[in-house]
Amino acid sequence: MNTILAVVLAYLIGSVSFAVVVSRLLGLSDPRTYGSKNPGATNVLRSGNKAAAVLTLLGDAAKGWFAVWLANHYAEQFGLDTASIALVAVAVFLGHLWPVFFRFVGGKGVATAAGILIGINVWLGLATLATWLIVAFAFRYSSLAALVAAVFAPLYYGFLFGPDVMMLAVFVMSGLLVYRHRQNIGNLMAGKESRIGSKKK
Ligand code: G3P
Repeated sequence: MNTILAVVLAYLIGSVSFAVVVSRLLGLSDPRTYGSKNPGATNVLRSGNKAAAVLTLLGDAAKGWFAVWLANHYAEQFGLDTASIALVAVAVFLGHLWPVFFRFVGGKGVATAAGILIGINVWLGLATLATWLIVAFAFRYSSLAALVAAVFAPLYYGFLFGPDVMMLAVFVMSGLLVYRHRQNIGNLMAGKESRIGSKKK
């Protein structure tokens, strides 16, 4: 029962789309109406407002981290085992992808996944983040960086902790993240993907 409550709470936390909330608060256009139409930090950056993009990134990452932290913090009190915490991690991610507050039209999960990974283990998060940064600096494609980082995240987890139910959760999140980037994959292969910093169309 406590696991179900924790999973529902995590899903609701994940459903807060910071791209939409921050844009509304700052009086900017809805990110679902321009650029890639994705409610995420990369697309908010296309509005030209860097502060909004940073706030979106931090908000989306913080909610992922917070849900996992909360579950860990109260694990003993509410009898949550590793499998329950793994479900919480997936639930907050699903909330971001398919948010109940925004007609189930959510983002691609990159910032939220980063927060979740830091929540699971800071070294796992940092290694994945470093992977994102290296690819992003080298190629200037946010999506490509996210895809490469998504491939490496479960491998880093396996290397650090060995295979367990949490590694499965990380693998599922990576799979969903790749699935949500299918349009980006098509654009990358066609040479039509926009680079980090290019403005909205
Ligand atoms: O953060 C999502 C990123 O990987 C791709 O975003 O807007 O270029 O589709 P976007």
